[in-house]
Amino acid sequence: MNLRNTIIYLIGVPAVGKYTVAKEIGRMTGAKVVDNQLINFPVFSVIGYDGTANFPFPHGASAQIEKIQRAVLTVIRDFCPPDDSFVFTNVLDARAPGDKAWFRRIERLARQRKAKFFPIWLTCDAEMIRQRKDAPERRARRKDIDLTTIDWYLQEFEVLKVPHPNALTLDTSHCRPEQTARRILEHVLGTDYGASPAISADRSNGYEAVSGEFMSGRARSSIGAATVRRWAKDLPPSGDVLDLGCGHGAPISEALVDEGLNVFGVDASRTMIAAFRARFPHAQAECNAVEDSCFFDRRFDGVVAWGLMFLLQPDAQANLINKVAAALKPGGRFMFTAPYQVCEWSDILTGQKSVSLGADAYRRIVEAAGLILDDEDDDEGQNHYYFVRESDGSEGGD
Ligand SMILES: C[S@@+](CC[C@H](N)C(=O)[O-])C[C@H]1O[C@@H](n2cnc3c(N)ncnc32)[C@H](O)[C@@H]1O
Repeated sequence: MNLRNTIIYLIGVPAVGKYTVAKEIGRMTGAKVVDNQLINFPVFSVIGYDGTANFPFPHGASAQIEKIQRAVLTVIRDFCPPDDSFVFTNVLDARAPGDKAWFRRIERLARQRKAKFFPIWLTCDAEMIRQRKDAPERRARRKDIDLTTIDWYLQEFEVLKVPHPNALTLDTSHCRPEQTARRILEHVLGTDYGASPAISADRSNGYEAVSGEFMSGRARSSIGAATVRRWAKDLPPSGDVLDLGCGHGAPISEALVDEGLNVFGVDASRTMIAAFRARFPHAQAECNAVEDSCFFDRRFDGVVAWGLMFLLQPDAQANLINKVAAALKPGGRFMFTAPYQVCEWSDILTGQKSVSLGADAYRRIVEAAGLILDDEDDDEGQNHYYFVRESDGSEGGD
Protein backbone atom coordinates (compact mmCIF):
# COMPACT_ATOMS: atom_id res chain seq x y z
CA MET A 1 0.00 0.00 0.00
CA ASN A 2 1.30 3.42 -0.83
CA LEU A 3 0.48 6.36 1.35
CA ARG A 4 0.48 9.55 -0.70
CA ASN A 5 1.64 12.89 0.67
CA THR A 6 0.68 12.29 4.28
CA ILE A 7 2.40 13.34 7.48
CA ILE A 8 1.76 11.26 10.59
CA TYR A 9 3.09 12.67 13.85
CA LEU A 10 3.49 10.18 16.73
CA ILE A 11 3.69 11.84 20.15
CA GLY A 12 4.19 10.25 23.56
CA VAL A 13 6.58 9.71 26.47
CA PRO A 14 9.85 7.75 26.00
CA ALA A 15 9.45 4.01 25.28
CA VAL A 16 5.74 4.28 24.50
CA GLY A 17 6.49 2.63 21.13
CA LYS A 18 6.71 5.62 18.78
CA TYR A 19 9.75 4.52 16.80
CA THR A 20 8.70 0.86 16.50
CA VAL A 21 5.25 1.85 15.31
CA ALA A 22 6.70 4.47 12.94
CA LYS A 23 8.97 1.82 11.37
CA GLU A 24 5.99 -0.49 11.01
CA ILE A 25 3.99 2.25 9.25
CA GLY A 26 7.03 2.83 7.03
CA ARG A 27 7.24 -0.87 6.24
CA MET A 28 3.53 -1.10 5.43
CA THR A 29 3.25 2.08 3.36
CA GLY A 30 6.67 3.26 2.22
CA ALA A 31 6.43 6.39 4.41
CA LYS A 32 9.83 7.73 5.56
CA VAL A 33 10.52 7.70 9.28
CA VAL A 34 11.83 10.95 10.76
CA ASP A 35 12.03 9.98 14.38
CA ASN A 36 13.32 12.30 17.07
CA GLN A 37 16.58 10.36 17.29
CA LEU A 38 17.35 10.96 13.61
CA ILE A 39 17.44 14.66 14.49
CA ASN A 40 19.04 14.33 17.95
CA PHE A 41 21.67 11.74 17.14
CA PRO A 42 24.51 13.97 15.80
CA VAL A 43 24.43 16.17 18.90
CA PHE A 44 23.80 13.31 21.36
CA SER A 45 26.77 11.40 19.88
CA VAL A 46 29.37 14.13 20.08
CA ILE A 47 28.24 15.22 23.52
CA GLY A 48 28.29 11.59 24.75
CA TYR A 49 24.69 11.53 26.05
CA ASP A 50 24.21 8.28 27.97
CA GLY A 51 20.41 8.16 28.05
CA THR A 52 20.04 8.98 31.75
CA ALA A 53 18.29 11.86 33.47
CA ASN A 54 21.49 12.82 35.36
CA PHE A 55 23.46 13.58 32.25
CA PRO A 56 24.57 17.24 32.41
CA PHE A 57 23.15 18.26 29.06
CA PRO A 58 24.36 21.76 28.13
CA HIS A 59 21.39 24.00 27.39
CA GLY A 60 23.11 25.54 24.36
CA ALA A 61 23.46 22.10 22.77
CA SER A 62 19.65 21.70 22.64
CA ALA A 63 19.43 24.87 20.56
CA GLN A 64 21.72 23.23 17.99
CA ILE A 65 19.33 20.27 17.75
CA GLU A 66 16.58 22.67 16.75
CA LYS A 67 18.78 23.86 13.87
CA ILE A 68 19.06 20.26 12.65
CA GLN A 69 15.30 19.90 12.81
CA ARG A 70 14.80 23.07 10.78
CA ALA A 71 17.32 21.86 8.18
CA VAL A 72 15.60 18.46 7.84
CA LEU A 73 12.17 20.09 7.53
CA THR A 74 13.48 22.46 4.87
CA VAL A 75 14.85 19.55 2.85
CA ILE A 76 11.51 17.74 3.11
CA ARG A 77 9.68 20.91 2.10
CA ASP A 78 11.90 21.85 -0.83
CA PHE A 79 13.49 18.69 -2.16
CA CYS A 80 11.44 15.57 -1.37
CA PRO A 81 9.00 14.34 -4.02
CA PRO A 82 5.49 15.74 -3.50
CA ASP A 83 3.93 12.28 -3.07
CA ASP A 84 6.32 11.16 -0.31
CA SER A 85 4.86 10.54 3.13
CA PHE A 86 6.61 10.93 6.49
CA VAL A 87 6.19 9.66 10.04
CA PHE A 88 7.62 12.00 12.69
CA THR A 89 8.02 11.09 16.36
CA ASN A 90 8.56 13.27 19.43
CA VAL A 91 8.20 13.48 23.19
CA LEU A 92 6.46 16.85 23.54
CA ASP A 93 6.26 18.62 26.90
CA ALA A 94 3.14 20.72 27.49
CA ARG A 95 5.12 23.00 29.83
CA ALA A 96 7.98 23.67 27.39
CA PRO A 97 7.08 26.57 25.09
CA GLY A 98 9.61 25.34 22.53
CA ASP A 99 7.77 22.03 22.17
CA LYS A 100 4.57 23.73 21.03
CA ALA A 101 6.65 25.49 18.36
CA TRP A 102 8.12 22.11 17.40
CA PHE A 103 4.57 20.76 16.84
CA ARG A 104 3.56 23.84 14.88
CA ARG A 105 6.59 23.46 12.57
CA ILE A 106 5.54 19.93 11.60
CA GLU A 107 1.97 21.09 11.12
CA ARG A 108 3.19 23.99 8.98
CA LEU A 109 5.35 21.62 6.92
CA ALA A 110 2.22 19.59 6.15
CA ARG A 111 0.44 22.77 5.04
CA GLN A 112 3.36 23.82 2.86
CA ARG A 113 3.48 20.41 1.19
CA LYS A 114 -0.35 20.32 0.99
CA ALA A 115 -0.06 17.02 2.85
CA LYS A 116 -2.70 15.41 5.05
CA PHE A 117 -1.65 15.77 8.68
CA PHE A 118 -2.47 13.28 11.45
CA PRO A 119 -1.23 13.92 15.00
CA ILE A 120 -1.42 10.64 16.94
CA TRP A 121 -0.87 10.42 20.69
CA LEU A 122 0.41 7.09 22.00
CA THR A 123 0.04 6.00 25.62
CA CYS A 124 1.24 2.93 27.48
CA ASP A 125 1.13 1.50 31.02
CA ALA A 126 4.12 1.69 33.36
CA GLU A 127 4.85 -2.04 33.28
CA MET A 128 5.19 -2.12 29.50
CA ILE A 129 7.34 1.00 29.48
CA ARG A 130 9.59 -0.67 32.07
CA GLN A 131 9.93 -3.73 29.83
CA ARG A 132 10.68 -1.65 26.73
CA LYS A 133 12.82 1.17 28.03
CA ASP A 134 16.26 -0.20 28.82
CA ALA A 135 16.63 -2.24 25.62
CA PRO A 136 20.00 -2.66 23.86
CA GLU A 137 18.71 -1.07 20.65
CA ARG A 138 17.56 2.00 22.61
CA ARG A 139 21.03 2.27 24.18
CA ALA A 140 22.66 1.99 20.77
CA ARG A 141 20.49 4.81 19.44
CA ARG A 142 21.28 6.98 22.50
CA LYS A 143 17.67 7.06 23.57
CA ASP A 144 16.41 7.68 27.09
CA ILE A 145 16.89 4.39 28.95
CA ASP A 146 16.43 5.74 32.49
CA LEU A 147 14.02 3.51 34.42
CA THR A 148 13.93 5.87 37.40
CA THR A 149 11.99 8.51 35.45
CA ILE A 150 9.09 6.27 34.35
CA ASP A 151 6.77 7.18 37.24
CA TRP A 152 7.62 10.87 36.79
CA TYR A 153 6.79 10.67 33.10
CA LEU A 154 3.48 8.93 33.77
CA GLN A 155 2.37 10.94 36.80
CA GLU A 156 3.88 14.40 36.58
CA PHE A 157 5.04 15.04 33.04
CA GLU A 158 2.29 16.55 30.92
CA VAL A 159 2.37 15.56 27.27
CA LEU A 160 1.54 18.46 24.97
CA LYS A 161 -1.96 18.01 23.56
CA VAL A 162 -3.10 20.06 20.59
CA PRO A 163 -6.72 19.77 19.48
CA HIS A 164 -6.92 18.71 15.85
CA PRO A 165 -9.74 17.20 13.73
CA ASN A 166 -7.46 14.33 12.64
CA ALA A 167 -6.16 13.56 16.13
CA LEU A 168 -6.20 10.05 17.55
CA THR A 169 -5.04 8.65 20.90
CA LEU A 170 -4.09 4.98 21.14
CA ASP A 171 -2.90 2.84 24.00
CA THR A 172 -0.04 0.57 22.92
CA SER A 173 0.21 -1.46 26.14
CA HIS A 174 -1.34 -4.64 24.80
CA CYS A 175 -0.96 -4.20 21.06
CA ARG A 176 1.82 -5.43 18.88
CA PRO A 177 3.44 -2.63 16.80
CA GLU A 178 1.79 -3.89 13.59
CA GLN A 179 -1.63 -3.73 15.25
CA THR A 180 -1.07 -0.16 16.37
CA ALA A 181 0.28 0.75 12.92
CA ARG A 182 -2.72 -0.85 11.27
CA ARG A 183 -5.10 0.99 13.59
CA ILE A 184 -3.41 4.30 12.74
CA LEU A 185 -3.62 3.55 9.03
CA GLU A 186 -7.29 2.68 9.34
CA HIS A 187 -7.77 6.09 10.89
CA VAL A 188 -5.67 7.82 8.23
CA LEU A 189 -7.15 5.99 5.25
CA GLY A 190 -10.70 6.02 6.61
CA THR A 191 -10.53 9.76 7.12
CA ASP A 192 -9.13 10.67 3.76
CA TYR A 193 -8.65 7.96 1.25
CA GLY A 194 -11.61 5.64 1.67
CA ALA A 195 -11.12 1.93 1.60
CA SER A 196 -7.69 0.54 0.89
CA PRO A 197 -7.58 -3.04 -0.37
CA ALA A 198 -4.74 -3.90 2.01
CA ILE A 199 -6.82 -2.91 4.97
CA SER A 200 -10.41 -3.39 3.98
CA ALA A 201 -10.47 -6.82 2.31
CA ASP A 202 -13.74 -8.00 3.84
CA ARG A 203 -13.35 -10.61 6.59
CA SER A 204 -16.76 -9.93 8.12
CA ASN A 205 -18.56 -12.67 6.19
CA GLY A 206 -20.58 -10.08 4.34
CA TYR A 207 -21.58 -7.96 7.35
CA GLU A 208 -19.61 -4.87 6.33
CA ALA A 209 -21.75 -4.55 3.20
CA VAL A 210 -25.00 -4.71 5.22
CA SER A 211 -23.73 -2.90 8.31
CA GLY A 212 -26.22 -0.01 8.05
CA GLU A 213 -29.19 -2.34 7.74
CA PHE A 214 -27.87 -4.63 10.49
CA MET A 215 -27.25 -1.78 12.94
CA SER A 216 -30.66 -0.20 12.48
CA GLY A 217 -32.38 -3.57 12.95
CA ARG A 218 -30.26 -4.54 15.97
CA ALA A 219 -30.84 -1.11 17.54
CA ARG A 220 -34.51 -2.07 17.87
CA SER A 221 -33.81 -5.50 19.39
CA SER A 222 -32.66 -6.41 22.88
CA ILE A 223 -32.56 -10.13 22.12
CA GLY A 224 -29.81 -11.83 24.07
CA ALA A 225 -29.17 -8.99 26.50
CA ALA A 226 -30.99 -10.62 29.45
CA THR A 227 -29.16 -13.93 29.00
CA VAL A 228 -25.82 -12.15 28.74
CA ARG A 229 -26.57 -10.15 31.89
CA ARG A 230 -27.36 -13.35 33.84
CA TRP A 231 -24.14 -14.93 32.57
CA ALA A 232 -22.17 -11.84 33.53
CA LYS A 233 -23.27 -12.09 37.18
CA ASP A 234 -20.83 -14.99 37.68
CA LEU A 235 -17.84 -12.99 36.45
CA PRO A 236 -15.55 -11.12 38.87
CA PRO A 237 -16.54 -7.48 39.48
CA SER A 238 -14.87 -5.19 36.90
CA GLY A 239 -13.55 -8.32 35.13
CA ASP A 240 -12.18 -8.19 31.59
CA VAL A 241 -14.53 -9.50 28.91
CA LEU A 242 -13.79 -9.99 25.22
CA ASP A 243 -16.75 -9.59 22.86
CA LEU A 244 -15.96 -11.41 19.59
CA GLY A 245 -17.98 -10.19 16.61
CA CYS A 246 -19.08 -7.33 18.85
CA GLY A 247 -20.85 -5.48 16.03
CA HIS A 248 -21.74 -1.92 17.02
CA GLY A 249 -21.83 -2.89 20.69
CA ALA A 250 -25.55 -2.97 21.41
CA PRO A 251 -27.13 -4.72 23.15
CA ILE A 252 -24.47 -7.32 24.08
CA SER A 253 -21.38 -5.25 24.98
CA GLU A 254 -23.74 -2.63 26.39
CA ALA A 255 -25.19 -5.21 28.82
CA LEU A 256 -21.66 -6.17 29.88
CA VAL A 257 -20.64 -2.56 30.42
CA ASP A 258 -23.84 -2.00 32.44
CA GLU A 259 -22.77 -4.94 34.63
CA GLY A 260 -19.56 -3.04 35.41
CA LEU A 261 -17.30 -5.18 33.23
CA ASN A 262 -14.33 -3.97 31.23
CA VAL A 263 -15.18 -4.78 27.61
CA PHE A 264 -12.80 -5.37 24.69
CA GLY A 265 -14.37 -5.67 21.23
CA VAL A 266 -13.21 -7.36 18.04
CA ASP A 267 -15.13 -7.15 14.79
CA ALA A 268 -14.07 -7.46 11.17
CA SER A 269 -16.47 -4.79 9.91
CA ARG A 270 -14.90 -1.31 9.74
CA THR A 271 -18.26 0.41 10.01
CA MET A 272 -19.41 -1.65 13.00
CA ILE A 273 -16.17 -1.20 14.90
CA ALA A 274 -16.27 2.55 14.24
CA ALA A 275 -19.77 2.61 15.75
CA PHE A 276 -18.55 0.47 18.67
CA ARG A 277 -15.72 2.94 19.32
CA ALA A 278 -18.12 5.86 19.19
CA ARG A 279 -20.41 4.11 21.70
CA PHE A 280 -17.59 3.10 24.08
CA PRO A 281 -14.75 5.62 23.64
CA HIS A 282 -12.83 4.11 26.57
CA ALA A 283 -13.10 0.48 25.53
CA GLN A 284 -10.37 -1.17 23.50
CA ALA A 285 -11.56 -2.26 20.09
CA GLU A 286 -9.91 -3.92 17.15
CA CYS A 287 -11.07 -4.10 13.55
CA ASN A 288 -9.89 -7.57 12.64
CA ALA A 289 -11.06 -11.07 11.85
CA VAL A 290 -11.30 -13.17 15.00
CA GLU A 291 -9.24 -15.76 13.13
CA ASP A 292 -6.32 -13.28 12.93
CA SER A 293 -6.72 -11.23 16.09
CA CYS A 294 -4.29 -11.86 18.94
CA PHE A 295 -6.96 -10.75 21.38
CA PHE A 296 -5.03 -7.77 22.71
CA ASP A 297 -2.25 -10.15 23.88
CA ARG A 298 -3.99 -10.67 27.19
CA ARG A 299 -6.30 -13.07 29.01
CA PHE A 300 -9.92 -12.57 29.98
CA ASP A 301 -12.37 -13.45 32.74
CA GLY A 302 -15.04 -13.91 30.11
CA VAL A 303 -15.39 -14.23 26.34
CA VAL A 304 -18.67 -13.78 24.42
CA ALA A 305 -19.33 -14.67 20.79
CA TRP A 306 -22.94 -13.74 20.10
CA GLY A 307 -24.12 -14.47 16.56
CA LEU A 308 -20.61 -15.15 15.28
CA MET A 309 -19.58 -18.80 15.54
CA PHE A 310 -21.76 -20.18 12.73
CA LEU A 311 -20.61 -17.48 10.31
CA LEU A 312 -17.15 -19.08 10.29
CA GLN A 313 -15.97 -22.13 8.35
CA PRO A 314 -16.15 -25.35 10.42
CA ASP A 315 -12.38 -25.59 10.95
CA ALA A 316 -12.27 -21.88 11.84
CA GLN A 317 -14.98 -22.52 14.46
CA ALA A 318 -12.85 -25.23 16.08
CA ASN A 319 -9.75 -23.03 15.91
CA LEU A 320 -11.63 -20.16 17.51
CA ILE A 321 -12.73 -22.34 20.44
CA ASN A 322 -9.09 -23.36 20.94
CA LYS A 323 -7.94 -19.74 20.73
CA VAL A 324 -10.53 -18.72 23.30
CA ALA A 325 -9.37 -21.56 25.60
CA ALA A 326 -5.86 -20.08 25.50
CA ALA A 327 -7.19 -16.58 26.17
CA LEU A 328 -9.21 -17.43 29.30
CA LYS A 329 -7.87 -16.81 32.76
CA PRO A 330 -8.08 -19.76 35.17
CA GLY A 331 -11.77 -20.24 35.94
CA GLY A 332 -12.72 -17.93 33.02
CA ARG A 333 -16.01 -18.35 31.16
CA PHE A 334 -16.96 -18.49 27.49
CA MET A 335 -20.41 -18.09 26.06
CA PHE A 336 -21.32 -18.51 22.41
CA THR A 337 -24.47 -18.94 20.35
CA ALA A 338 -25.07 -21.51 17.61
CA PRO A 339 -28.02 -23.78 16.83
CA TYR A 340 -28.36 -27.06 18.73
CA GLN A 341 -28.83 -29.00 15.49
CA VAL A 342 -26.28 -29.73 12.80
CA CYS A 343 -27.52 -27.47 9.97
CA GLU A 344 -26.67 -25.02 7.20
CA TRP A 345 -28.66 -21.99 6.08
CA SER A 346 -28.30 -18.70 4.24
CA ASP A 347 -27.83 -15.67 6.44
CA ILE A 348 -30.95 -13.56 6.07
CA LEU A 349 -29.03 -10.29 5.60
CA THR A 350 -25.88 -11.29 3.75
CA GLY A 351 -27.09 -14.37 1.87
CA GLN A 352 -23.83 -16.12 2.85
CA LYS A 353 -23.77 -19.69 4.11
CA SER A 354 -23.94 -20.25 7.87
CA VAL A 355 -23.00 -23.59 9.43
CA SER A 356 -23.85 -25.05 12.81
CA LEU A 357 -21.73 -28.03 13.83
CA GLY A 358 -24.41 -29.05 16.37
CA ALA A 359 -24.30 -29.57 20.13
CA ASP A 360 -22.47 -32.92 20.07
CA ALA A 361 -19.62 -31.57 17.94
CA TYR A 362 -19.39 -28.34 19.93
CA ARG A 363 -19.15 -30.39 23.14
CA ARG A 364 -16.35 -32.53 21.68
CA ILE A 365 -14.39 -29.49 20.46
CA VAL A 366 -14.86 -27.67 23.75
CA GLU A 367 -13.65 -30.69 25.75
CA ALA A 368 -10.71 -31.30 23.42
CA ALA A 369 -9.69 -27.68 24.06
CA GLY A 370 -9.55 -28.48 27.80
CA LEU A 371 -12.77 -26.61 28.60
CA ILE A 372 -16.01 -27.75 30.19
CA LEU A 373 -19.45 -27.32 28.60
CA ASP A 374 -21.43 -26.43 31.70
CA ASP A 375 -24.87 -25.69 30.40
CA GLU A 376 -27.00 -24.84 27.37
CA ASP A 377 -30.06 -22.64 27.06
CA ASP A 378 -32.36 -20.87 24.58
CA ASP A 379 -33.46 -17.25 24.67
CA GLU A 380 -36.57 -15.32 23.66
CA GLY A 381 -35.32 -15.22 20.06
CA GLN A 382 -34.68 -19.00 19.89
CA ASN A 383 -30.92 -18.50 19.96
CA HIS A 384 -29.15 -21.47 21.48
CA TYR A 385 -26.39 -20.76 24.03
CA TYR A 386 -23.37 -22.80 25.02
CA PHE A 387 -22.00 -21.89 28.44
CA VAL A 388 -18.41 -23.01 28.74
CA ARG A 389 -15.84 -22.56 31.46
CA GLU A 390 -12.17 -23.01 31.94
CA SER A 391 -11.29 -25.93 34.13
CA ASP A 392 -9.92 -24.61 37.43
CA GLY A 393 -9.00 -28.15 38.47
CA SER A 394 -11.75 -28.37 41.10
CA GLU A 395 -13.82 -30.87 39.10
CA GLY A 396 -10.97 -33.41 38.80
CA GLY A 397 -11.45 -36.89 40.36
CA ASP A 398 -8.66 -38.61 42.24
C1 LIG B 1 -24.83 -11.40 13.61
S1 LIG B 1 -23.70 -10.10 13.88
C2 LIG B 1 -23.69 -10.06 15.67
C3 LIG B 1 -23.15 -8.78 16.20
C4 LIG B 1 -23.23 -8.60 17.69
N1 LIG B 1 -22.57 -9.67 18.42
C5 LIG B 1 -24.65 -8.45 18.15
O1 LIG B 1 -25.07 -9.20 19.03
O2 LIG B 1 -25.33 -7.56 17.68
C6 LIG B 1 -22.16 -10.85 13.50
C7 LIG B 1 -20.97 -9.92 13.67
O3 LIG B 1 -19.79 -10.67 13.49
C8 LIG B 1 -18.89 -9.92 12.69
N2 LIG B 1 -18.04 -10.89 11.99
C9 LIG B 1 -18.35 -11.75 11.03
N3 LIG B 1 -17.31 -12.51 10.70
C10 LIG B 1 -16.29 -12.11 11.49
C11 LIG B 1 -14.94 -12.52 11.64
N4 LIG B 1 -14.42 -13.51 10.91
N5 LIG B 1 -14.18 -11.89 12.55
C12 LIG B 1 -14.68 -10.87 13.29
N6 LIG B 1 -15.95 -10.46 13.20
C13 LIG B 1 -16.75 -11.07 12.32
C14 LIG B 1 -19.76 -9.12 11.77
O4 LIG B 1 -19.11 -7.99 11.27
C15 LIG B 1 -20.93 -8.79 12.69
O5 LIG B 1 -20.69 -7.59 13.37
